Amino acid sequence: MTPFAAFPRSRPRRLRRTAWIRSMVAEVALAPRDLILPVFILEGSGQREPVASMPGVDRLSVDLLVGVAEEAARLGIPALALFPVTPVERKTEDGCEAWNEDNLVCRALRAIKQAVPEIGLIADVALDPFTSHGQDGLIRDGVILNDETIAALCRQAVCQAAAGCDIVAPSDMMDGRIAAIRASLDEAGFHETILLSYAAKYASAFYGPFRDAVGSGRSLGRADKKTYQMDPSNSAEALREVAVDLSEAADMVMVKPGLPYLDIIRRVKETYDVPTFAYQVSGEYAMIRAAGLQGWLDADAAMLETLLAFKRAGADGILTYAAIDIARRLRG
Ligand code: PBG
Repeated sequence: MTPFAAFPRSRPRRLRRTAWIRSMVAEVALAPRDLILPVFILEGSGQREPVASMPGVDRLSVDLLVGVAEEAARLGIPALALFPVTPVERKTEDGCEAWNEDNLVCRALRAIKQAVPEIGLIADVALDPFTSHGQDGLIRDGVILNDETIAALCRQAVCQAAAGCDIVAPSDMMDGRIAAIRASLDEAGFHETILLSYAAKYASAFYGPFRDAVGSGRSLGRADKKTYQMDPSNSAEALREVAVDLSEAADMVMVKPGLPYLDIIRRVKETYDVPTFAYQVSGEYAMIRAAGLQGWLDADAAMLETLLAFKRAGADGILTYAAIDIARRLRG
């Protein structure tokens, strides 16, 4: 027997009649502080290039990026996630540009840190923007090498921390990389650098526009990342991946993509109750914007609704390419 009164004494619609009562009983709310803005960095200065498959998103050179960081900080967005568009001539088999202390990411980290010290900076740890083959790890005879890749990731992470990165975010899905990166950071004196693990990252079709944006799609060709990114069939495995990364001292974990994996966000949050982030990835963003441009739905409203769904599922924060638009909207 339900403990609640029945109709007609009970009328759930009483709590939906006006905006003020709806806001009084709202269970979750979205605020600018929940949002993290991923950005694409270009070489040069004064450079702005739209990403065709991500309407409203531009790749920017470091000088223009500083302006975006200022605006994000002003809107109350706590952090940016940086992704470099590495010129093809700098891509190599081993991705060594990843640990060049003057690479695009490091230059952006230093410039933004200096101009906008109040915003947090996150950098991806993975080799795909730097490898000629577009894989996140090193390859031999078509096999992605785990342990050799970890050594490279450690160099990359230390290089980013030295350039002023606040949060290093391994997105590569190699086994054992969190412990190794933590040890390398500590050994280099970066005890305070935060580790955000892309712990449950799925081999997803929704990364397509991102791979256009950074140019890794062309390098990757018809290859896939299924030997390291997770199978979309699995959720118990996501809990094990998160458990392993927490045992290796991840400070925060991420589930990615977001909307198709809300069940995973919920299970991770309920099981471990640690800071849990979600990534509304490029394909999720592109679908909503594309439908909006066709006039098939109200893109801003749909974006807000999906971001609210992340909060409802338990996410503590959301990486979204719409962060600036949404933060402006939330601030009226
Ligand atoms: C690379 C990386 C990817 C994304 C973030 N880091 C793509 C991939 O794994 O191929 C995707 C983000 C997005 O689609 O918005 N390690």
